[in-house]
Amino acid sequence: MKLTVEGLNSHYGPAHILFDIGFEVGEGEVVALLGRNGAGKSTTFRSIVGLVAQRSGRIMFEGKDVSARPTHEIVREGLGYVPEERRIFTDLTVEENLEVGRQPKRPNAPHWTRDKLFALFPNLGEMKNRPGGRMSGGEQQMLTIARTLMGNPSLVLLDEPSEGLSPKIVEQMVDAILTMKKEGVSIVVSEQNLHFARLISDRAYIIERGRICFGGTMAELDARPDIRDAHLSL
Ligand SMILES: Nc1ncnc2c1ncn2[C@@H]1O[C@H](COP(=O)(O)OP(=O)(O)OP(=O)(O)O)[C@@H](O)[C@H]1O
Ligand SMILES: [Mg+2]
Repeated sequence: MKLTVEGLNSHYGPAHILFDIGFEVGEGEVVALLGRNGAGKSTTFRSIVGLVAQRSGRIMFEGKDVSARPTHEIVREGLGYVPEERRIFTDLTVEENLEVGRQPKRPNAPHWTRDKLFALFPNLGEMKNRPGGRMSGGEQQMLTIARTLMGNPSLVLLDEPSEGLSPKIVEQMVDAILTMKKEGVSIVVSEQNLHFARLISDRAYIIERGRICFGGTMAELDARPDIRDAHLSL
């Protein structure tokens, strides 16, 4: 397995948010983590990369236990994280933003160059010198993903990549994610939008109030409209 999460419990202060979360991601898979507002999707991702102080459980990444490692070390192992809020540098150009993400090549992960990223996100190629602050939300979202890919991750966590995007940009995002998969990047994508998740994912887990309540292929999920209707807003 590329990534295995076992018995993950997380707290914010006195509030217990995640309860025994467990899921796995195979080599080259796209796995969706589906759930409504406040279900715990972002907290799960933040816990995996060590950004939630109070967490317990086991996170195995490429056979290594990274549960107790600090964020920068986990990222350096090749686990990329694209947070929900787009964190680009508004004063830096597109190209400069990409440089910030650069990390060495990794033997077990695809190697991304600026040209390859501009082919992945053609929009960005047309605005190489534009400051990040003068880009649309969708363009900023693409730039955030592209910058993470500059680190040559073997797996990326994408937190709601389709959120707030126009239908046309969503289409480009679908293409980009499928290309990333084809290149060999394993992907976990958190989503409220089942339609978007269905276009890109091999398997899905549903999280509700901090607990995993379903895991299966997209076909298995489609065969269970009861589960879908109970735990997802469509
Ligand atoms: N920093 C924080 N301090 C305290 N509680 C928090 C904090 N961040 C999130 N929570 C709570 O934890 C729960 C899970 O939130 P989380 O952001 O993980 O959900 P989510 O599934 O990502 O939701 P969304 O779809 O809105 O992004 C919610 O009840 C939320 O209010
Ligand atoms: Mg979230």
